[in-house]
Amino acid sequence: MQRFKPAQFIFTLFAFLMAFSVHAQKLPNVTILATGGTIAGTGASSTTTVGYTAATVGVQQLINAVPELSKIATVTGEQVFQIASESMTNDHWLTLGKRVNTLLAQPNVDGIVITHGTDTLEETAYFLNLVVKSRKPVVLVGAMRPGTALSADGPINLYNAVLIAGSQEAIGKGVLVALGDQIHGARDVTKTNTSTPDSFKTPELGMLGYIQGPKAHFYHTSTRKHTVDTEFDISNLSVLPQVDIVYGYANMNPVALNAFIAAGAKGIVHAGTGDGSLAAKVKPDLIAARKNGTVIVRASRVGNGILARNGEANDDELDFVVADTLNPQKARILLMLGMTKTTNTKELQRMFYMY
Ligand code: DGL
Repeated sequence: MQRFKPAQFIFTLFAFLMAFSVHAQKLPNVTILATGGTIAGTGASSTTTVGYTAATVGVQQLINAVPELSKIATVTGEQVFQIASESMTNDHWLTLGKRVNTLLAQPNVDGIVITHGTDTLEETAYFLNLVVKSRKPVVLVGAMRPGTALSADGPINLYNAVLIAGSQEAIGKGVLVALGDQIHGARDVTKTNTSTPDSFKTPELGMLGYIQGPKAHFYHTSTRKHTVDTEFDISNLSVLPQVDIVYGYANMNPVALNAFIAAGAKGIVHAGTGDGSLAAKVKPDLIAARKNGTVIVRASRVGNGILARNGEANDDELDFVVADTLNPQKARILLMLGMTKTTNTKELQRMFYMY
């Protein structure tokens, strides 16, 4: 048997390392920040698609479950926190947003994927869309079925999210949400079904593209400012103003509104019926709250359409702000961030037409 001479061995090893290094250099560096949710959930059996436990699997286990990731990116994982996303708080958002900005400022990070529960995924995405200070891709991903379930959607959703986060096409598009082979913009995407895998949609205004190939294909971009083009900076923020949402319905009363204000709410989003209508029993309390300095934003529980200024109420006279097309939970986020800059309602209204 021919024995390798030392010089031959060293040359071969060097050639291999060079080839590996070139291949690795071509792969984008993507950091996966894990926060919990169903994508990290486990069920009692393979047919458990509801009634499972969310937020039980760590980030490295999520990565190990998709070995194909190593072919499309150099992936590193961080467990930022491990919660079911219905328990997300402003503090979690500030922690996550600051970590994202720190990582994206590093030249060796090309994109970020955030694994997240689907319940508040759209809210975290929109918050980050307003506070991330980089054009690099940030992609939020979740799953509607736990990893232990038949046809679990988490692994392929994670693969697709890493693909997008490492792509050139996703640069400058704002924060993205990727589930079910679809790419959505953070501002307009929403969870539309309690349990089915096609739950995330951008009704009427439309999603941005698809993953197929596997490649990210974009057909639309958001018309609203985001990330590096916003005026919001959380780097020195340790708390966000308290903003709460009151829900409109037949036979509504002002108890919840007044309780929120008594508990310190600085802003109220009124998720009204129809075009943000104000029930006769509640309107006087909203007017009084505004007169006492609480910022009032009129939104709609309906889910789609423009909330018309001076439509169902004389906003100019009452000094209310309208939410444009933002759903109530996203209007709350913009109002919170807006109130870190100003309480001037004309300025706040400008923000709702800009972001
Ligand atoms: N508890 C829900 C959450 O963490 C589970 C829903 C999901 O992640 O799909 O958002």
